[in-house]
Amino acid sequence: MSYKNLIYSVDAGIARITMNRPEKLNALNRETMHELDAALDDFFGDAGARLIILTGAGSKAFVAGADITELARQTPREGKDYSLFGQGVLRKLESGGKPSIAAINGFALGGGLELALACHMRIASQGALLGLPEVTLGIIPGFGGTQRLPRLVGRGIAMELILSGAKIDAAEALRIGLVNKVVPAEQLQSAAADLAAAILSRPPVAVAFAIDAVNRGLEMPLLEGLFLEAGLFGLLTTTEDMKEGTRAFLEKRKPSFTGR
Ligand code: COA
Repeated sequence: MSYKNLIYSVDAGIARITMNRPEKLNALNRETMHELDAALDDFFGDAGARLIILTGAGSKAFVAGADITELARQTPREGKDYSLFGQGVLRKLESGGKPSIAAINGFALGGGLELALACHMRIASQGALLGLPEVTLGIIPGFGGTQRLPRLVGRGIAMELILSGAKIDAAEALRIGLVNKVVPAEQLQSAAADLAAAILSRPPVAVAFAIDAVNRGLEMPLLEGLFLEAGLFGLLTTTEDMKEGTRAFLEKRKPSFTGR
């Protein structure tokens, strides 16, 4: 499938979505959100695509938010429906069982930061600016920002960012744990590719179960999360990759995983 507002590609197991409306700083209009939804279906439906990197076209922006031109015209009903739709798209990205990395190459604001928050990991370029400025428009984040940001950086810092609408730089984002790593702009894509390669070298079933254990566990009381972890841990002992991984260690050689 070809897209108008994004570029979707797969190479050597790594899928890439580049949000591609640079003249509007890659702002997420409805059409783009539907394309993102369809591209994620492509990704999750393709056994050859094992990990996804999301980034933005151009040098200025990852994504500068939901499209304010469209937001300005919304009725309350449309606003709620659009919020639920966007939440569903980002939930698909978060819970589909394949790892995702946001390569934040500039502004990650509003829906753009929410997109990055739904990714499992975030790497930012040194000049990136991040924030949830919705309150400055008289709204609140609607694609999961009020829920995922406090879970990632804690309630107090999330409150400050959401209530003030402040934009923070990449160094501050790193300090509060909002991004995993900050690199010079010219190294951003290679840093994301290096992280992708490290994860791709690991057995995919263990990677998928680890995502589930972390994500579902954070939504449960500790005892239930521990029980979930034990069940997934036990189940992994049945995989060929577990047998290969442990045998390779004992035989002092590199493992060769098959994904079974
Ligand atoms: N929705 C729609 N259009 C947007 C947009 C958004 N979220 N963000 C940027 N654009 C458009 C601008 O309107 C402008 O279009 P134009 O050239 O047709 O006038 C173009 O993208 C370039 O943006 P501009 O504001 O000229 O760039 P800048 O470098 O001066 O400022 C920002 C960059 C990111 C600080 C500024 O664009 C901004 O504040 N954007 C909105 C951020 C926001 O509030 N996002 C949350 C939405 S819920």
